Amino acid sequence: MQLDQNATRENWGSKLGFILAAAGSAIGLGNIWRFPYVLGENGGFAFLLIYIICVIVVGLPIMGAEMVIGRGSRRNPFGAFKALLPGSMWWVVGAIGILTGFLILSYYNVVAGWTLYYLFQSVTGGISELTNGEIASSTFNGFVTNGGLVVLFQFIFTFLGIFVVSQGVKGGIERYSKILMPTLFILLVLLIGRSVTLPGSMDGLKFLFTPDFSKLNGDVILEAMGQAFYSLSLGMGVMITYGSYLDRKTNIFSSTATVASLDAGIAVLAGIAIFPAVFAMGMDPADGAGLTYQVLPMVFAQLPMANVLSTLFFLLLTIAAITSAISLLEVMVSFATDELKWTRSRATIIMAAVAFVLGVPSALSFGAWADVTVFGLGFFDLVDYLTANIMLPLGGILIAIFAGWAWGNGVKKEMLEGSGQEKLYKVWLWAVRILAPIAVGLILVFNFV
Ligand code: TRP
Repeated sequence: MQLDQNATRENWGSKLGFILAAAGSAIGLGNIWRFPYVLGENGGFAFLLIYIICVIVVGLPIMGAEMVIGRGSRRNPFGAFKALLPGSMWWVVGAIGILTGFLILSYYNVVAGWTLYYLFQSVTGGISELTNGEIASSTFNGFVTNGGLVVLFQFIFTFLGIFVVSQGVKGGIERYSKILMPTLFILLVLLIGRSVTLPGSMDGLKFLFTPDFSKLNGDVILEAMGQAFYSLSLGMGVMITYGSYLDRKTNIFSSTATVASLDAGIAVLAGIAIFPAVFAMGMDPADGAGLTYQVLPMVFAQLPMANVLSTLFFLLLTIAAITSAISLLEVMVSFATDELKWTRSRATIIMAAVAFVLGVPSALSFGAWADVTVFGLGFFDLVDYLTANIMLPLGGILIAIFAGWAWGNGVKKEMLEGSGQEKLYKVWLWAVRILAPIAVGLILVFNFV
């Protein structure tokens, strides 16, 4: 089939730019906020191992499927399915993906807003006062229940996303990813240097790297698979969108391997930065979602140069959040520019505004709207649960099935373009046809029971 090649569509300026942008999408709050506490709750090293297996077995093939769908169609997720199988109903998968993207972005902006607030507190010196658990948690609770303040920081963060995405793929997303990702890496290395030189830090490394398989059970495996999925930005079309700006010389197999290794690598490094400090200060590694905003500020407060350290850390977290949020926003922007023929600036402002408004109930769900619940969950938890546990895995299965079964002969040609690796293609095809749908299907089913 001869597709309209959409001659005016932008391309990445370089392969490195593409890799850093895709890794920037993958590396986010999921790596630095979520991964360490989920690992802490699930027993450390055994979880880490299973997580890495999930990245390889499920993550890599589905990421490849998304990129090849994007490059083969040179479209946004909705248009991609329509272009590759005209007349079919597959566009629904793309449409659900775009909807999921709105939902994720809506609450992602809120958590990123918390991060910005803590960055602001660090710069102005407030962190050094959070010297004990009571002060740290009352500060956190005082903030998240203050709707006006949370929405203000959500708004500032939304604005940062608009600023980057409105400048385009090459001049915005790629340009800033090339600056921000190396910065993130340097910040992380600095924090690791501090953390592992604290007296007592070895216990943290032991916790991370000592196999304790007694903790291993079905729930741990499901958590690890869910984390791999979320962390790699799979299941809703981010990688379809980023793949649509790829040229035909790029090897999709090696690109997915690089992006996934960077993502898993940064998650492990975040663990190495965080656990030694947590153990050295005698805190609990299984402290749950509050680890980043309550335990870490306390850890910082007890160290010399508390505000410098916490500024570095929350800057790291803010950077990680920005490069992920822009990938979510770009999905909607590419939809609006491809399908609705809007200009990029108009698309960026309107789509970001919609995500902002959708996020306000999540922003208020710890304060003014705490009593508004659906199925027993507040808005924030509801959106998080629906997207991460249901919509993304469902999207992932359908994307794998599309690439493996529905698309037809086109997929082989497109996958070999730039790689020529027939053997690898066979392994990949088997993975998207059978392995990935079954593995992800299991997460979905078990999440319900
Ligand atoms: N991967 C990001 C993180 O680790 C979150 C994210 C960005 C995401 N885009 C996504 C998750 C798309 C699922 C789908 O924080």
